[in-house]
Amino acid sequence: MAMAPSKVVVLMAFMAAALSSVSMAAGLQHGFYYSSCPQAEDTVRNVVQGMINNDPTMGAAFVRLFFHDCFVRGCDASILLDPTTSNPQTEKTTIPLRGYDAVNKIKAAVEAVCSRVVSCADILAFAARDSIVASGGFNFHMPSGRLDGFRSIADEVFQGIPSPAFQLQELLDNFATKGLNAEDLVVLSGAHSFGLTHCNFVTPRLYPTVDPTMNATFAAALKKVCPPPRNGGGFISVSNNRVTDPNKLSNQFYHNVASGQVLFTSDQTLMDQTPTTGNKTAAMVTDNAANPIAWMARFAGAMVKMGGIEVLTGTDPGEVRKVCFATNNAS
Ligand code: HEM
Ligand SMILES: *[C@@H]1O[C@H](CO)[C@@H](O)[C@H](O)[C@H]1NC(C)=O
Ligand SMILES: *[C@@H]1O[C@H](CO)[C@@H](O)[C@H](O)[C@H]1NC(C)=O
Repeated sequence: MAMAPSKVVVLMAFMAAALSSVSMAAGLQHGFYYSSCPQAEDTVRNVVQGMINNDPTMGAAFVRLFFHDCFVRGCDASILLDPTTSNPQTEKTTIPLRGYDAVNKIKAAVEAVCSRVVSCADILAFAARDSIVASGGFNFHMPSGRLDGFRSIADEVFQGIPSPAFQLQELLDNFATKGLNAEDLVVLSGAHSFGLTHCNFVTPRLYPTVDPTMNATFAAALKKVCPPPRNGGGFISVSNNRVTDPNKLSNQFYHNVASGQVLFTSDQTLMDQTPTTGNKTAAMVTDNAANPIAWMARFAGAMVKMGGIEVLTGTDPGEVRKVCFATNNAS
C-alpha cells in the first residue's frame, strides 16, 4: 500500500512551494525538536510507516485521532488519556476510535531515543502527517512545540465533535468555533476517502427508506453490507470509500460526493447551499475532484491549520508526558 519513495519526493518539492504561504499557530515552529531530539520526527515516521505496512487501515486511524484531539480542547493529547479513579470520564470513553495502542507504541519508540522531550500532542501530529505520506503520497512540514494537557472531559466530545447527521450550516458553525472556514471543511472532509466506519452511522440513511440524496445503486450495495440496525449489524465495519482503494487518501472523496456515493449526511451536504455560502462548497467539491494536486496542497495546509487549534506552548499550563495514556502525576 505504501507509495514508492520517489513519488513522495516529487510531491515534496511541489509542496514546499505550495505551503510557503501557510500560516502557523503562534508558538509552534518547524523542527521544534531539531536540537533537543534530532531523531524525533524520523522515529515517528519509521514506526508509523511500519505499522501501515502491516495494516494499511492504520493511516486513517491516526488522522482521525488527530482530528478528534484538535477538536476537543485543542491539540493537547487529551484524547489519549485513559480514565482514572479521579477522572473516570475522559474523552476516549465516549466515541470508540482506533489506534490508541499504536500511539502508545510510537511514544515508547520516541522515549527510547529521547526521554521526556517530545510531547504526545506532537507525536500525534507527526503520526497524522506521516500517515498522509504513507497513504496519500504527499509530504509536508508539520509544525511542532505543542504541550500535553492535564484534563480530558467526556462531555466536551459531544460539544466539539460534529455529528455525521449534521447539515451544511451546522458543519460550518462547528468548524467556525475552531477557527476553520468553509474551505477547511470541504478540504478536510477529503479524509473520508479512506478508513473505516461502523454501520450504525450509515443505517439511518438506509432504513426504513433510502436517503434520496444517496445514489440508489450505491445504497442497494451498501444495504447488503449494513443490515437494518435491529438485526445487530451496527458494529460491522464498512469502508468510507467503497468506490476505489479504501486505504488510499486521495481526492476520490469529491468524485464520490458528486455521484452520491458517500456514507454520511455530513459528506453529502457539502453539495447543498446556505444563505451565506450559496453553492460555494459545492463548487469546491467540483474543483477538488478535478484538481488532485491542488487538493493535496490544500489538505496539507488545512491539516497544519487544524494542528494549531488552541495549542498549549511555551509557558502555557502543560507538560511533556512520559506515557501518552496518563498525565505525569497520573491524577
Ligand atoms: C466534517 C465533520 C466530520 C464528521 C461528521 C465526521 C464523522 C465521522 C464518522 C461518523 C466516522 C466513522 C467512525 C466510526 O464508525 O468509527 C468518521 C471516520 C473517519 N473520519 Fe471523520 N468526520 C468529520 C470530519 C473529519 C475530519 C476533519 C477528518 C480528518 C482530517 C476526519 C477523518 C476521518 C477518518 C480518517 C475516518 C476513518 C477512521 C478509521 O478508519 O478508523 N473526519 N468520521
Ligand atoms: C451512481 O453510482 C454508479 C456506480 O455505482 C455510477 O455509475 C452512477 O453514475 C452514479 N449516479 C449518479 C447520478 O451519479
Ligand atoms: C454555482 O452557481 C453559479 C452561479 O449561480 C453557477 O454558475 C455554477 O455552475 C454553480 N456551481 C455549482 C458547482 O453548482
